[in-house]
Parts: sequence; structure tokens; C-alpha cells
Amino acid sequence: MKAKKYVLRNQFVGFPKKSDVEMVEEELPPLKEGEFLCESLYISIDPYQRAYLVEVGNVVLGSQVARILESRNSKFPCGRYVIAYYGWKTHGIIDETSAGVGFPPRLIQDPINHPISYYLGVLGMPGATAYFGFLEICHPKPGETIVVSGAAGAVGHVVGQIAKIKGCKVIGIVGSEEKGRWITEDLKFDGYINYKLHNISKTLAALAPEGVDCYFDNVGGEISNDVMKQMNLYGRISVCGAISSYNSIEEDKASIVQKTMIFKELNMEGFRVFRWLHRFEEVITQHGKWLAEGKLKTKETITKGFENTFQAFTGMLNGSNFGKAIVEL
Ligand SMILES: NC(=O)c1ccc[n+]([C@@H]2O[C@H](COP(=O)([O-])OP(=O)(O)OC[C@H]3O[C@@H](n4cnc5c(N)ncnc54)[C@H](OP(=O)(O)O)[C@@H]3O)[C@@H](O)[C@H]2O)c1
Repeated sequence: MKAKKYVLRNQFVGFPKKSDVEMVEEELPPLKEGEFLCESLYISIDPYQRAYLVEVGNVVLGSQVARILESRNSKFPCGRYVIAYYGWKTHGIIDETSAGVGFPPRLIQDPINHPISYYLGVLGMPGATAYFGFLEICHPKPGETIVVSGAAGAVGHVVGQIAKIKGCKVIGIVGSEEKGRWITEDLKFDGYINYKLHNISKTLAALAPEGVDCYFDNVGGEISNDVMKQMNLYGRISVCGAISSYNSIEEDKASIVQKTMIFKELNMEGFRVFRWLHRFEEVITQHGKWLAEGKLKTKETITKGFENTFQAFTGMLNGSNFGKAIVEL
């Protein structure tokens, strides 16, 4: 059987170029004992595909919702759906120990009450990042003021809504007016800052004169420094991502955050979502319930066709996605 995959031809330098990857065909070998053959239905497009470097010649990193077409592993039977991590491929032969970016394959459990692509977004890794990264690090209390950057993205739009569910006031930072309208009008955030248009310090001071108690940071850089300066005593910062620097070719320059941290006695913690891998089912249950109750909404930006995967990736880096960026095969 023939399959297609994207292989890295050059390390990304600056913004990724089409010539950095190549789509090639491969003949799949017969299954060995313990292996199963998966057909990708949806591929997840994520910032880590830019941030984590693989070696030239290897498949571009990535996860997918796949259907098991053939199996020599009784725990992963034919016909079941699985969340797998075999990269940008139409098909993958894996076993239960195959762990791309640190995650082994997981069967999707019945009943499946939501679109299956949600297992790459609100019910998957980005949803878990929002849930644990916000609740376990920021410990939000009702009435507190929360800022989330990357607020219209896969992680950010969920963080803001969890904050609303917990009784907080939420300000989102986004890259367009359309995204600002989406998070305030549809998702009920209390305000937004368009970092491409507004002065962050002035706008934040106007939107949150009481100061910021928690900051969920998806982007890093100067946006985050501006937010930190307006934090209240004992504020908490969850450092999730630093996408503002992923495509940079210059050496990172440090702004001095230590004085702010000392005088405001802030608590800043970075995390990788693998920390809570053993609790991912909790997110499926809780987010599934909030979705059913209408307390949590989600959006997907779906690009059709495996041949458009690279375009979906650069689109996400440029901010074209509302909610979760996904390729449908
Ligand atoms: N720690 C973890 O375990 C973990 C897990 C998942 C994700 N992450 C991180 O969380 C962040 C969000 O991930 P995601 O999957 O939810 O991606 P996403 O927000 O759905 O997509 C990326 C978004 O980043 C924004 N962006 C691009 N360049 C930017 C810049 N220079 N400054 C500010 N914003 C920029 C764009 O939105 P705009 O239109 O608003 O610019 C774009 O839509 C990323 O930094 C990612 O690496 C971390």
C-alpha cells in the first residue's frame, strides 16, 4: 500500500518556506506483531511543529485522529479511532509504544458525542493545555482579572472561557479586530486588545484599572512584559508558549522582568502539558460536559486536503486560524 508523508528538507530559518518540506510517497511494509495501520482523518497543526526541530530527512512532527485499518495488536482493534503522533503522514504503522512528541497513541473511547476532530483541539492536547495550565498554575478565584494572550487560538480561546466559568473577568490579546469581536461577542470575554493596533499598556490600564491577577502567556516577548507590569501583588503567570519568537532569526534579547517580579511578588511557572498526561480523560469529561451545557464553545479552522498541510501550517503561524487549526484529509 502507498502512503504520503512530508519530510523536512531544510531546517526552518525564520518563517518556514515551502521548499523546507517535501511531500513524498512511501510503500508501507507488512505489519509486524504488535503493530497497527492507521489512516489519518484529521491532522493537527500546532506551533510546536515550528518550535521543536526534527532532523533533516525526518517526517515533520504532528498528531492526528486516525482510523485503524489493520491491526496485529488486540488493544488497538481494527475500526477504532485513535489519537496518534506519527507526523504529517496519510497513513502510519505504529505500535502502542510509538510516542511522537512524548505522547503514546490513545484510543478514543465510546461514546463519541462530539465531532471527532475535537480530539485534536478542545478535547485533546490544546484543551488539556488550557485546562491544566490555567487551573493548576494560576489557581483563579472568582472576581479576579485574567489576561490571556493568543486568545483566539486553540489554547487561548479555551483558557478565557474556563476563566469565565470560574467567575473571573477576562481580557484577551489577539492579532485582529475580527478575532477581538469573536472572543467578546461570541465567547463573552470582557474585553480584548489587538496587539497589532492598540498600545497594550494603555488599553490594558483602561480595560482593567484594578490590575491583573493571572496572566496565561501563549506568546512571550514584549506583549508579556507589558502585561506583567500591570499585575497585582502575588499575581500568577502560567508560561505556556512563546510564539512571538518562534520565527525570529535574531538572538533573543532580554527585557528586565525581575524588578516587576520582586516588587509584585509574582509567581511565574512554565509547563509542558505532558505533566498531566495521566489526567487527560478528565479534560474529555469536563470539557465534554461544558460543551454540552453550552458553557464552552469552540471553533476549528479546517483546511481540506493533505496537499495543503504546509499552507495550513504557515497560515496558523500568520494568525489565520480562529480556534484550532486542522487539516482534513
Ligand atoms: N506548554 C505546552 O505544553 C503547550 C502546549 C500547546 C501549545 N503551547 C503553546 O501555546 C501557544 C498557543 O498554541 P495554540 O496551539 O493554541 O496555537 P494557536 O494560538 O491556535 O495559533 C497560533 C497563534 O499565534 C498567534 N501569533 C502568531 N505570531 C504571533 C506573534 N508574533 N505575536 C503574538 N501572537 C502571534 C496567531 O494569532 P494572532 O492572530 O492573535 O496573532 C496564531 O493564530 C503556542 O505558543 C504554543 O507553542 C504550549
